[in-house]
Amino acid sequence: MTKLKGKVGLITGSGRGIGRAIALKLASEGARVVVNDLDAAPGDAVAAEIRSGGGEAIAINGSVSETGFSDRFVGAAMETFGGLDIIVNNAGYTWDSTIQKMTDEQFQAMLDVHLVAPFRLLRAVSEPIRIMAKKEAEAGREVFRKVVNISSIAGLYGNAGQASYSSAKASLVGLTRTLCKEWGRYKVNVNCVALRWRG
Ligand SMILES: NC(=O)c1ccc[n+]([C@@H]2O[C@H](COP(=O)([O-])OP(=O)(O)OC[C@H]3O[C@@H](n4cnc5c(N)ncnc54)[C@H](O)[C@@H]3O)[C@@H](O)[C@H]2O)c1
Repeated sequence: MTKLKGKVGLITGSGRGIGRAIALKLASEGARVVVNDLDAAPGDAVAAEIRSGGGEAIAINGSVSETGFSDRFVGAAMETFGGLDIIVNNAGYTWDSTIQKMTDEQFQAMLDVHLVAPFRLLRAVSEPIRIMAKKEAEAGREVFRKVVNISSIAGLYGNAGQASYSSAKASLVGLTRTLCKEWGRYKVNVNCVALRWRG
């Protein structure tokens, strides 16, 4: 299928689970994909799987919470594929405790991976997007870009044992709503998906 031919998709945490499924789906629709995972082996394996199926993919592994990660990830997309069109903030994990047992480290870790990392990635893509959107507008071309932030129903309704995770996922909704307002002018559709625990 070629619905996404010519598009470039960046998906964090795409070595396994939902991120992997998104990466494979985007590639199956013709997108060129920049895979990422904290663990290099699954990240590399997904990129290799896409290439072996005739698609185009690279893996830029490492933690989304690492200083400098976003610039490295975005820089690789621009250098290798010459653009970016779809950004999926998916990477994450849970570290649960009831609030009386939750440490500062635990709380901060969830904010770092589920909120600060998406913020940094979106900040890093903002300048390339602004430049590309300006050129496209000058050329009279209408190009829509997409951001998908993966939240959780825990962020919407709360969940016992997840004070840190639910706070971060709720804040991701706020970040999403603000970028809708900031990036409409660049024709970027910014959405958030609140997933339900799949068990
Ligand atoms: N599975 C669910 O039921 C569910 C429900 C609600 C929300 N979510 C959200 O969906 C997203 C994906 O979850 P999943 O179920 O596919 O999880 P998963 O554990 O199957 O996959 C997540 C991937 O992200 C990677 N990752 C974790 N921390 C990372 C980091 N700092 N940098 C880069 N990669 C990192 C992991 O190594 C893993 O490969 C997460 O944001 C999660 O919070 C999942």
